[in-house]
Amino acid sequence: GSFQFIKYEKNGSIGVITLNREKALNALCDGLMKEVAMALDDLERDSAIGAIILTGSGKAFAAGADIKEMQNQEFSNVFGGNFLNHWTRISDCKKPVIAAVNGYALGGGCEMAMMCDIIYAGEKAKFGQPEIAIGTIPGAGGSQRLTRVAGKSKAMEMVLTGEMISAHEAEKMGIVSKVFPTEELLPAALKLAEKIASHSKIVTQMCKEAVNAAYETTLREGLHIERRLFHATFATRDRKEGMSAFIEKRSPKFTDS
Ligand code: HXC
Repeated sequence: GSFQFIKYEKNGSIGVITLNREKALNALCDGLMKEVAMALDDLERDSAIGAIILTGSGKAFAAGADIKEMQNQEFSNVFGGNFLNHWTRISDCKKPVIAAVNGYALGGGCEMAMMCDIIYAGEKAKFGQPEIAIGTIPGAGGSQRLTRVAGKSKAMEMVLTGEMISAHEAEKMGIVSKVFPTEELLPAALKLAEKIASHSKIVTQMCKEAVNAAYETTLREGLHIERRLFHATFATRDRKEGMSAFIEKRSPKFTDS
């Protein structure tokens, strides 16, 4: 369909969603989030798609939730309407999502990047949770995911000062997995996405579910989930094909079944 706030394309087995509200630094208004959700619905339904890239146009990934939309909201509306609840659409995605952060990832933008599975950054990217400076706090995982990834002291520093950190600092803290020169960011994200999409899509989803269990549950529960998912790979043709191909010294032909 035609979108107002995003660009959306399919490139073989890769879906690319580009936040495209450049004049507002891709501020995450409700309409934009709805379009991202629609694109993800479509990409999840499409069995040809094996990985998804989320990126931003211009000098921002996203400069946060839309402050103009929030300015005159009241408690009764945000609480009663469970404001931002539907943002979980990104973390609920079964297929791997790579954030390619090219510029500002602030507030909800930083949180959105952390909802993705892997973050690649351009060397000019900036990350921050500046909500404190406008009298509110992170509302989509910034106080939770950041603390799990970077630890309490770093997360507290970012959330309490509201100051931005560079791509290289974010890499050192484990928020970002790799930093690239600006022009090389998207090609690198595509290469990563293609590598991921070359594997069995069904086993890839199990892998993602297992890693997320480490993030969301206790070690004991996570180890149990991992073992069960490992067992479940034996219910797939692709597990048999992968092991047979190795023994027969050839490339596997996965059928995503
Ligand atoms: C609405 C925004 C916006 C935002 C920028 N804009 N961020 N509009 N919501 N979050 C708009 C500006 O109003 C301006 O519009 C245009 O984008 C360009 O921004 P400038 O400020 O003029 O650009 P610049 O001087 O380059 O500064 C860049 C910036 C600054 C440092 C990123 O824009 C900034 O501090 N933005 C706010 C960052 C922030 O506080 N994010 C957290 C939001 S709260 P006009 O019309 O004036 O040209 C949040 C809550 C999360 O995310 C809770 C759960 C999701």
